[in-house]
Amino acid sequence: MNDQAKIDYFTEADSVAAVTTRTGARTDPRLAEVMNSLVKHLHAFIKDVELTQDEWGVAIDFLTRTGQMCDDNRQEFILLSDVLGASMLVDAINNRRPSGATENTVLGPFHVDGVPVFEMGANISKAGGTETCLFEGIVTDLEGQPVEGVRIDVWSDNEDGFYDVQQPDVQPLHNNRGVFITGADGRYWFQGIKPVSYPIPDDGPVGQLLARLGRHPYRPAHMHFIVSAKGYDTVITHTFVQGDHYLQSDAVFGVKASLIATFEPVSGGKTRWRSEYNFVLTPTTTA
Ligand code: BEZ
Ligand code: FE
Repeated sequence: MNDQAKIDYFTEADSVAAVTTRTGARTDPRLAEVMNSLVKHLHAFIKDVELTQDEWGVAIDFLTRTGQMCDDNRQEFILLSDVLGASMLVDAINNRRPSGATENTVLGPFHVDGVPVFEMGANISKAGGTETCLFEGIVTDLEGQPVEGVRIDVWSDNEDGFYDVQQPDVQPLHNNRGVFITGADGRYWFQGIKPVSYPIPDDGPVGQLLARLGRHPYRPAHMHFIVSAKGYDTVITHTFVQGDHYLQSDAVFGVKASLIATFEPVSGGKTRWRSEYNFVLTPTTTA
């Protein structure tokens, strides 16, 4: 055996070690852990499906087009993470809460910073709509005590299933968006419209992937909420419209049973619908 034979060249059998043993001794330990695990699972996947050269080429092309689709307004990689269930899994691992606390779900791409704070009770639907809805409830801590000074940031689609930012030439600025701050009673209430189900942006590679997999791009109707207060974990969530056709097949896996809200018809009121949902906050965790 000559000296050359002792060197650990790359082989199919030892492919993982061939790559991970190159990680430098002074590499940040967490980066080394994450990358070595990624290589281990990536190689296991390639071996499991015995990936062909053509298939690898298709994957590279898909990822290239996914990147090319991204700009300041469109993040196709997050959409990919969403439809693969990765966004919800990362969210679940990082937002484990005690029973009774309000659960998180995906943020989505349509949140906007800098929306004005409204008086409690204001109407966030600048363009109006027929299916008007009163949203109301109380924010408490785990002991049921009202929380004062909670910032409640809300946004929803219009009756055609579009957010204002998707139709800047059609909808008024900040249509169906608002920020509210709770008083000492912890209560919130505002007017909007009953959200409708809508497709996630499906005119790019992620939409093509869904179609190839026989999956639809729809999300069940929902109102987005970011509920934040000093001393408490911020809750990024939605309330889902009970009875929606897509509750069990959300394209991005965002539905949790505890987030399904009732929408009751109202007769003789200011709005056609009323949806009550109470939020329960957990004290900030200092990791
Ligand atoms: C949304 O609910 O706004 C959303 C979430 C994930 C992907 C696309 C849209
Ligand atoms: Fe949404």
